[in-house]
Amino acid sequence: MAQEDIFKKLVAHCKEYGYVFQSSEIYDGLGAVYDYGQYGVELKNNIKKYWWDSMVLLHENVVGIDSAIFMHPTIWKASGHVDAFNDPLIDNKDSKKRYRADVLIEEQLAKIEEKINKEVAKAAKRFGDAFDEQQFRETNQRVLDNQAKWNALHNRFAQALNDSNLEELRQIIVDEEIACPISGTRNWTDVRQFNLMFATEMGSTADGALKVYLRPETAQGIFVNYLNVQKTGRMKIPFGIAQIGKAFRNEIVARQFIFRMREFEQMEMQFFVRPGSELDWFEKWKETRIKWHRALGFGDENYRFHEHEKLAHYANAAVDVEYKFPFGFKEVEGIHSRTDFDLSQHEKFSGKKIRYFDPELNESYVPYVVETSIGLDRMFLQVISASYCEEQLEKDSRVVLKIPAALAPVKLAVLPLVKKDGMPEKAREIIDSLKFDFNCQYDEKDSIGKRYRRQDAIGTPFCVTVDHQSLEDNTVTIRYRDTMEQERVAIADLGKIIGEQVSMKNLFGKIN
Ligand code: GAP
Repeated sequence: MAQEDIFKKLVAHCKEYGYVFQSSEIYDGLGAVYDYGQYGVELKNNIKKYWWDSMVLLHENVVGIDSAIFMHPTIWKASGHVDAFNDPLIDNKDSKKRYRADVLIEEQLAKIEEKINKEVAKAAKRFGDAFDEQQFRETNQRVLDNQAKWNALHNRFAQALNDSNLEELRQIIVDEEIACPISGTRNWTDVRQFNLMFATEMGSTADGALKVYLRPETAQGIFVNYLNVQKTGRMKIPFGIAQIGKAFRNEIVARQFIFRMREFEQMEMQFFVRPGSELDWFEKWKETRIKWHRALGFGDENYRFHEHEKLAHYANAAVDVEYKFPFGFKEVEGIHSRTDFDLSQHEKFSGKKIRYFDPELNESYVPYVVETSIGLDRMFLQVISASYCEEQLEKDSRVVLKIPAALAPVKLAVLPLVKKDGMPEKAREIIDSLKFDFNCQYDEKDSIGKRYRRQDAIGTPFCVTVDHQSLEDNTVTIRYRDTMEQERVAIADLGKIIGEQVSMKNLFGKIN
């Protein structure tokens, strides 16, 4: 099945099984804003816990905060967001549709890359085990021509971004003959900058309301609390501050479900280091973060690092962790060496000294910062995309979410074989003994087969069935979601069996 079709099914599945709903749906929805349903919120909470504990529990020099969404408006002047947090936009005059100029060019680059990959895949199939991919890429004329095309376009694009040259961006779109997907024409306006921050007013207008912004990143809440945390926590450099919270961006190209939203959540950590050591820490955090992703078992080949074409105004090194979504490799997380830009700017704009006295060097300095910044919603989409499977079985088929057990919203379903003979009561007894440790679900409706399918679709890793034998010898069958195998176990052992498999320790062991 084509990847786009899988993606459409996955979006429909998220709605049908209570993971994600369009916001304000009964009013026909609100663009690029989504609500999480009863299972979605559990998965989100588990992802948050996986991230938070991996940062704050596993690192004794990382602590957390929770800062407000509204902040003093000067913060956004100091951070550069008022002047430079822009996207380059272009409109098609016929369809009246608006696009991000950089995204149109990135898609053109992806098309060339796709051509190369198809050529390589074709040859790999033809030559079988004898295939030498590197040699093929270095000698096949069609691959070489396309690679040269890609390099030339990529260099021109990177230069235009670095120079913030909007005319050149438009010229690239014209030269590449990029057409609007709606109208099919190449009738483009000029490219212009558009600020992504949402603004609102605080206080009564009679007193003169203050224009405030909905934060476009959580990071600034950490920077402006640097001194508070460093002093009250007696933190010694190097140390980090972590935070999970909402961020808002007036995205123009809001597509691909929860991949690009106008209201979303970030999980960010700012790591404060000695000037000059930031690039070493940048490498260390790159390694730690990729291990965190890979520990989930979605396949190492589905991740790659992507170096930024254009460094943000605050960075001296930056890399994205990309995951292979059904619509291609896309950014999930950014790791940025932000220098002393933010703290220095806040010193300048607030007039307060934001320094660290380093007892080993016997000097004060503005710390440098390495940031790890991951979108919670994108991580959610990564988990769902990687877990969604359609399986053909002997007699029928099933849709199963193979979510890692530690992240699964419901850990076990307890199912009485029939609704009588004391089986429902026994099932309730089991739930009562396990519900403080695991999210359990009781289900007695429909045949046992249908109930298994329902739990597969939700992604529940264990189904426990209570039958006649259970009433006699206190044993049940436990069915494993991924293999569909069943075994008979003592009720008294359930807590241990399930506890071992759903523990986040299994994941943390692979990171530490
Ligand atoms: N503090 C740095 C920062 O905000 P970013 O690369 O703009 O960096 C970090 O954002 C992460 O936030 C991205 O890697 C992505 O996962 C997530 N993100 C950014 N914009 C988003 C959007 N509109 N919708 C969903 N997630 C988004």
